[in-house]
Amino acid sequence: MSNELRKPLISGNWKMNHNHFEAIQCVQKLAYLLTKEDFSAVDVTIHPPFTDLRSVQTLIDADELRFILGAQHCHEADSGAFTGEVSAQFLAKLHVRYVIVGHSERRQIFGETDEVVQQKLATIQKHGMTPILCVGETLSDREAGRTHEKVLGQVRSALVKRTVEQVKSMVIAYEPIWAIGTGKTATAEDAQHIISAIRQEVALVTSGPAASAIRLQYGGSVKASNIGEIMSQPDIDGVLVGGASLDAAEFARICQRSQRSWG
Ligand code: 13P
Repeated sequence: MSNELRKPLISGNWKMNHNHFEAIQCVQKLAYLLTKEDFSAVDVTIHPPFTDLRSVQTLIDADELRFILGAQHCHEADSGAFTGEVSAQFLAKLHVRYVIVGHSERRQIFGETDEVVQQKLATIQKHGMTPILCVGETLSDREAGRTHEKVLGQVRSALVKRTVEQVKSMVIAYEPIWAIGTGKTATAEDAQHIISAIRQEVALVTSGPAASAIRLQYGGSVKASNIGEIMSQPDIDGVLVGGASLDAAEFARICQRSQRSWG
């Protein structure tokens, strides 16, 4: 399916790294390395830890930077007795525009289920933000030949209660769990194969029109050295980068090498 209408989306998920001083330094370095043309060619979201959000938002606003502020997580409720949790409405107030949902680390370590993912998607969109829904299979799913079943099942469950318009505006990141932080990447062809199946699943669930609009990312050991190959695939509209996004110079190279002629 053609990607000419979809602007690449490059997202840096810092996970639990960089305190707010390091966050400011990293964003300042990135701002120095990326040009106006880079930002016209790709959208760049940065997802720092919660404690950094206010500092990064202030920097983005004060210096009129073109980074888009993202969060890594939120709670499904708007407020209440949920010690330690953060509400989507608080994130929206901080000008957060993208929120990662259902990351494999949240699913595996913190027990985030498909049902909770559904609720979070609803909450994030209710507050006018864009969810980046993460899906992906474990190594044992893959070895048992269950990759499609697992990944497409997660997609279907997340989308069934969303309207076509809501699906169109969201992002899905395919992150094979065995490729996260391991240095192993799915081959670009393999990633394309699964991501194209995700696009077909979106077409099925929404009866068509959202499939060509939705942006689909790949994640898992993305680096400047493999980004070109990944972004040359027709259904891959961007990447969700973990480790390599912590280094401003490396992340800037990833953003620059993701550019292609579109639209
Ligand atoms: P790595 O790029 O470190 O493999 O992490 C991928 C990821 O989980 C991004 O959300």
